Amino acid sequence: MGKVYVTRELPAGGLDCLAEHQVDVNSEDRPLSREELMAKVKEYDAVISLLSDKIDAEIIHAAAGKVKIFANYAVGYDNIDITAAAKVGIWVTNTPGVLTEATADIAWALLLAASRHVVAADKFTRAGKFKGWHPTLFLGGDFWGATLGIVGAGRIGQATARRAKGFGMKVIYYNRSPRPEFESQEGARRVDLKSLLATSDYVSLHLPLTPDTRGLLDAKHLELLKPTAVLVNTSRGPVVDEACLASMLARGRLAAAGFDVYAEEPRIHPNLLALDNVVLLPHIGSASRQTRLKMAEMAAANVREVLAGREPFNPVKGI
Ligand code: DGY
Repeated sequence: MGKVYVTRELPAGGLDCLAEHQVDVNSEDRPLSREELMAKVKEYDAVISLLSDKIDAEIIHAAAGKVKIFANYAVGYDNIDITAAAKVGIWVTNTPGVLTEATADIAWALLLAASRHVVAADKFTRAGKFKGWHPTLFLGGDFWGATLGIVGAGRIGQATARRAKGFGMKVIYYNRSPRPEFESQEGARRVDLKSLLATSDYVSLHLPLTPDTRGLLDAKHLELLKPTAVLVNTSRGPVVDEACLASMLARGRLAAAGFDVYAEEPRIHPNLLALDNVVLLPHIGSASRQTRLKMAEMAAANVREVLAGREPFNPVKGI
């Protein structure tokens, strides 16, 4: 029997496959402090972690020789120093695939809500300001015939693009390597990042956070966007310069934006909070009941495999 620590309560039933192990869950409704996490990794054989748990080289060092796996409850794993983990022989796993469709749905929720002012119009209506049909009330942009630019054509980027078919949109994408199947199936065209930003009516970010993508969408790039464009981010906050976007939105230099992720979560840039042409969500891309359960089952299955002396199903880096 192994000892498994789960850094936050997960959907009921998700950890059933670990029944033969001792599973302890942080039952307090708050993230673990660094000191608490440091103590847990000295005590447990496996840790199911969240994207908000910063597992850096120091934590990995403390875990070395005890923890066999960090099973991250997320597809992204930028919160974990995977190089340090590999050096000391600790597996790191993620939850790819199961959250693709839910996250693509949220990208679309943001695209639609931001472009058509859904949140501002709801507030307006509740405030009793709706005095009858008005020819220019809350004018937004069309989707039909418009161009959607997908930045990062991995699973989620492609799933977001698939939905554009139903809206009658053209799809262009930026990705380091070409995606021939995506191109033939979805009619998507690969372009460089600058052309994508300059020609898209809607831009959806789907980049993993890596040293190469951190700050990729800087002021120089963002200035290329059309003033009528709408940009949404469901990937990771640090890939885009939030302060620059906030300033563009405030000046009417960009029509609207939608965020599910932020550079310094859970802090929201104060200049974004002040704007009406931005929709702000609390990192809920994968938050459907079905998806979150599958993520828990996947993380648990990876732990089960490693505690049984086998390789996990979803390693992010072999050891
Ligand atoms: C992930 O999995 O990386 C998302 O950001 C949260 O589900």
